[in-house]
Amino acid sequence: MEAKAEQEVGEARHLPRIGEAAPDFEAESTFGTIRLEDFRGSWLIFFSHPADFTPVCTTEFAAFAEIQDELKQINVNLMGLSVDSVMAHIAWVRNIEEKFGLEIQFPVIADSDRKVAHLYGMIMPGESKTETARCVFVIDPDGILRSLIYYPMTTGRNMQELLRLVRALQTTDKHTVSTPANWQPGDAVIVPPPRTQELAEERLHEGYDCKDWYFCQKAI
Ligand code: BEZ
Repeated sequence: MEAKAEQEVGEARHLPRIGEAAPDFEAESTFGTIRLEDFRGSWLIFFSHPADFTPVCTTEFAAFAEIQDELKQINVNLMGLSVDSVMAHIAWVRNIEEKFGLEIQFPVIADSDRKVAHLYGMIMPGESKTETARCVFVIDPDGILRSLIYYPMTTGRNMQELLRLVRALQTTDKHTVSTPANWQPGDAVIVPPPRTQELAEERLHEGYDCKDWYFCQKAI
């Protein structure tokens, strides 16, 4: 076994997790040289796809293009990545524009040496040893990783869920609340449960819509 491969097998790489700083990198993209730090101050949906000129990935890029304006309105940028070259990305993006009438307004990283893919754990060797899986990393304006989602190669992602997720995180940050299952903007949110017996006693008299002391909701 080559020394580098041996090192990779032998050493458990620390992969970024929720609540940690998203690892910075510099990479070539369809927008030129790009750094993660360039996105500081806005939210970022950083996603990988397996390969250019493949059908499921094409539907995903078209679907990302369809929500890119909505994302911009809530201060969210998009950035894609695969192991294909910049030239392949350019040709594919132009093809999507021509065939689907949708302009891809976000950069796509060409991670040919898999440097970023390994940094973020985007390769799932059980599925493909060479291509990146359908990974999504939601990164907040301070550069903190707030959510990770992985989809297999054969399942295209749901853009409405990604929009919902970012809106839920923004709502959590703005109002210091949580969002329940199937929450949609405009729905009631969950008030953080009280942390002492005394506060639990008070909770039922604070004007919230409560099922019990630990389960209270409010409109925002
Ligand atoms: C696709 O995008 O269609 C695809 C890519 C890699 C594996 C399976 C499907």
